[in-house]
Amino acid sequence: MQRRILLLCLLVLGLTAGACVPGTQQTNNGPRKKKGPTEQIKIGFSMDTLKEERWQRDKDLVEKRAKEIGAEVNVQVANGSDSEQIKQAENMLTQGVDVLIVAPHNGEIAASIVEAAHKQGVPVISYDRLIKNSDVDLYISHQVVKMGEMQAKYLLDHVGKKPANFVIVGGSPTDNNALLLHQGQMNVLKPAVDRGDVKIVADQYAKEWQASEALNIVENALTRTNNQVDAVVASNDGTARGAVQALEGQHLAGKVLVSGQDADLASLKLIVEGKQTMTIYKPIQPLAYGAVDAAVKLARGESLSTTETIDNGFKKVPAILLEPGAVDRNNLTSTLVKDGYHTLAEICAGLPPEKCPKE
Ligand code: BGC
Repeated sequence: MQRRILLLCLLVLGLTAGACVPGTQQTNNGPRKKKGPTEQIKIGFSMDTLKEERWQRDKDLVEKRAKEIGAEVNVQVANGSDSEQIKQAENMLTQGVDVLIVAPHNGEIAASIVEAAHKQGVPVISYDRLIKNSDVDLYISHQVVKMGEMQAKYLLDHVGKKPANFVIVGGSPTDNNALLLHQGQMNVLKPAVDRGDVKIVADQYAKEWQASEALNIVENALTRTNNQVDAVVASNDGTARGAVQALEGQHLAGKVLVSGQDADLASLKLIVEGKQTMTIYKPIQPLAYGAVDAAVKLARGESLSTTETIDNGFKKVPAILLEPGAVDRNNLTSTLVKDGYHTLAEICAGLPPEKCPKE
């Protein structure tokens, strides 16, 4: 019976069997394009957004690396629209890019970009965020579950109260990173809840990673608990700043611990002021350079050396997962300032000099 259905699928739809099996992607790949060793590679970089400060850095560094190694790069930004991102990727394929690097807005929907690219023999790299249920060629990112663990552990280690009331502010539920971060946060918090050390008083995702969503989530939690909140596990710096704004409304900024991620300049200033507690520093250069270098290799049909994989629901995707670091006011000089990610002068501009950490 199953064979009959499969055959029917093949005949009637004219598609590969994959299209008939729920939860798998159709893999009717065209022959792989392969550029010669001296031919110039055209890279398409499809970005969801430039909203958070880090993405501008990703764009600049991808362009810089491409220039350094003589590749051409076309960057398109979809500004949070799935249909726009698909259209832009299709246009780049029509224009004949040899390889696509995609930072997806929605990890599920972007699978159709992989499908369209593969039909034309064009490999696809999933950048920073995982493209789910697709035959994507490489995933390059940081260790996202570990980042969630670092955020929760830092707050748990510093909260100094038992039981402590925690609020969790997740990122966009359509971004796989938000789900992985939550997984990491719960890896640490669940045992603490079971021990009776922590009570989770709110646990919600902030749509589109919006600060205004985070503000609402934290305001509601403060109202419901009569301001009895001890720590906010905010998943990135944008949502952390929304959380800080809600706390400021109740004169609690600096008294409640708040995590973050990205080492945005605005959040580093809050960390120096004592209103945000920590952030996760993810060096962007190895990510951007790694993606461009891998893109060129894939376009030339060379193999990649990866040691890790991540399951995207369709297959175990070869992965490069970079190391993140926890940053607070005590180590920001020896970490991201030392790396030249931001200067101390930038961070401290406009703040009382006595608050500024030493070189
Ligand atoms: C990225 C974060 C970023 C967030 C919002 C996540 O997928 O990993 O660095 O803050 O998206 O753009």
